[in-house]
Amino acid sequence: MAKSLRQPKGPGVLIRIDSVTKRYPDGTVAVDRLSLEIPDRSITVLVGPSGCGKTTTLRMINRMVEPSEGTILLDGEDIQRQPVTTLRRSMGYVIQNAGLFQHRTIVDNIATVPRMLGWGKQKARARAAELMERVGLDAALAKRYPYQLSGGQQQRVGVARALAADPPVLLMDEPFSAVDPVVRKGLQDELLRIQDELGKTIVFVTHDIDEAIKLGTMVAVMRTGGHLAQYAPPAELLSSPADAFVEDFLGGDRGIRRLSFFPSAPLELTSDPVIPLDATAEQIAAPDAPYLLVTDADGRPLGWSAPRDLVAGEIRPDRLLSHGRPFVPGTDSLRVALDCAVLSPTGWAVAVDTGGRVTGVVSQATIGEAIRTAHAAGRDDEKVAG
Ligand SMILES: Nc1ncnc2c1ncn2[C@@H]1O[C@H](COP(=O)(O)OP(=O)(O)OP(=O)(O)O)[C@@H](O)[C@H]1O
Ligand SMILES: [Mg+2]
Repeated sequence: MAKSLRQPKGPGVLIRIDSVTKRYPDGTVAVDRLSLEIPDRSITVLVGPSGCGKTTTLRMINRMVEPSEGTILLDGEDIQRQPVTTLRRSMGYVIQNAGLFQHRTIVDNIATVPRMLGWGKQKARARAAELMERVGLDAALAKRYPYQLSGGQQQRVGVARALAADPPVLLMDEPFSAVDPVVRKGLQDELLRIQDELGKTIVFVTHDIDEAIKLGTMVAVMRTGGHLAQYAPPAELLSSPADAFVEDFLGGDRGIRRLSFFPSAPLELTSDPVIPLDATAEQIAAPDAPYLLVTDADGRPLGWSAPRDLVAGEIRPDRLLSHGRPFVPGTDSLRVALDCAVLSPTGWAVAVDTGGRVTGVVSQATIGEAIRTAHAAGRDDEKVAG
């Protein structure tokens, strides 16, 4: 997934949560002296176990819940000093199961806020149609009612509705947790794409650490009692969890998951073992390699073979070992390259350009070297940062 290679777009802080505590009337401390700086134009994820205060925090940002102590600044201004209606207009809100109006069609659901703001019916519906396209909904669904849509489609409508008045901020509370993993992945990819295009400031709540790592530019790990356990970019969480709670919450294979944050571009490729389908006997004999990768006339991979099993002029693509899944060095992470090598029948990963043409191959050993170098460089960065 290429998201790992993105950089935060805007360096500014849009929302500043300053030592905020929420004590509910029954004495429950849902959030305890929380301070967070939420950067502009990026996705900040609040993650943690059930009941740790994520929803309470999110709702204090749009004043659905009022803090007991502390202040929240939006673009430098105390949100207490702004009329609630103005504040909420600047913040789209998306919840689990989308929370759509069941008696309204999809297009009218999406047009809700523009209509409230006094837009004419035509203009609001045109805006709704534009947003349906943006979130990947077929225009044919416009006249349906929510119950006539799948859960994933309803969730897309929820996102479109929140975007309708083009607010700078989106607050999202476990928006994708009620859908199956495949639909969920689609929704996550769509959100990353929308965020790249529109540059919204998104505060996203989840209890799923993998979702947090995939989506977050910054991730706030919270623990029961409304305490902030760690606030860091996902790569840093994986490399240096602040304590045993965070480490445990991150789960196993931290090292492997961290490889998602390193590009595969620096891998040294070799094209020595790559031969065309019409290779001569000399071309087959020349490379000193246990396996050769055969390519078609356009340079696309056909499969692997030991040199001794190849006869010049008689190479049969159907007799070759699968070339497995290739990786694209400019786009894919080191984790993808490693996965390709692990799954390859020869232990060698195949690199291709965006057109699918082979640019070279790389062994597990070389990838292992690159992993050691990347981890070492990461550790040096941490020393500099820390
Ligand atoms: N209105 C309320 N009155 C009293 N206590 C509340 C109220 N709302 C939430 N709480 C309590 O505050 C704590 C934090 O709740 P919150 O809903 O913020 O947690 P959460 O992290 O969003 O949990 P989940 O992952 O289950 O949604 C919990 O102990 C909850 O029981
Ligand atoms: Mg919640």
